[in-house]
Amino acid sequence: MIRKFIAAAAAIAWVSLGVAGVSLADENRRGRQLFDLCAQCHGSAGQGTELFLAPAIAGLDDWYVISQLKAFRSGARGTNYQDVGGMRMHPMSLWLKTDSDIDAVAAYVAALPKVDPPQVVKGGNAADGKAIYATCSSCHGAQGEGNKSMNSPPLVHMSDWYLVKTLEKFKAGIRGSNPANPNAVLMRGMSNMLTSDQAIKDVVAYIETLQ
Ligand code: HEC
Ligand code: HEC
Repeated sequence: MIRKFIAAAAAIAWVSLGVAGVSLADENRRGRQLFDLCAQCHGSAGQGTELFLAPAIAGLDDWYVISQLKAFRSGARGTNYQDVGGMRMHPMSLWLKTDSDIDAVAAYVAALPKVDPPQVVKGGNAADGKAIYATCSSCHGAQGEGNKSMNSPPLVHMSDWYLVKTLEKFKAGIRGSNPANPNAVLMRGMSNMLTSDQAIKDVVAYIETLQ
């Protein structure tokens, strides 16, 4: 009886391992396949393309990629008509028909080696930015590494032009004014402490020193 039970348990364990193995391979394949579309704007290494307003996404935490793809797909992000970049990404997210497609492509993006995009923003003062960043660090981490428990994404290994544009958009309420997106609404409030265009450049210049 006991021996029969052990044999059955072993068989179940073997079968479920086998199934998990197959589905992981399937997820990898599906993720790579879906990424062909993303690469057209974000680049084949996920390094970003400023011309298309598409930021670097390589190595971005999967939880954040999943949350943003769902926000784009539901229209909680990227549906403000003044949000040129977001309006481009929103229709792309609609190609991800199922949550398992989102999981697969997010896993693929998260596994891409992180990149250090070229610094193109000029005129920021990192020393002044450091003082500002002290507030940001309570959510985004002292090294800009992000904090999942605060829903706060990493800010390092991101395109500097995208950080500047995004902070401008938060301040103007072009991102973060949809109540369906509470994390963005929270961040919009935080962006108000950046009282000038110079303050935005300064804090981004400091963030660039962290990577
Ligand atoms: C037509 C060009 C285009 C395609 C194709 C595209 N994207 Fe985007 N994506 C963008 C743009 C532009 C933005 C910036 C949105 C903004 O400014 O808020 C963006 C933003 C994102 C973000 C948010 C990054 C962040 O830091 O918040 C993620 C994640 C993302 N894209 C993933 C993907 C994935 C995954 C695919 C493929 C399924 C994809 N994109 C396909 C243009 C594109
Ligand atoms: C109270 C916590 C909190 C503080 C403080 C905070 N943020 Fe955020 N930030 C967030 C959250 C949450 C998000 C994610 C918004 C979303 O999901 O759309 C975010 C998103 C961002 C983004 C968008 C990243 C991307 O990939 O699109 C940038 C840039 C950013 N924050 C910069 C800053 C800066 C600079 C400061 C300091 C001036 C700051 N944040 C302070 C919580 C915070």
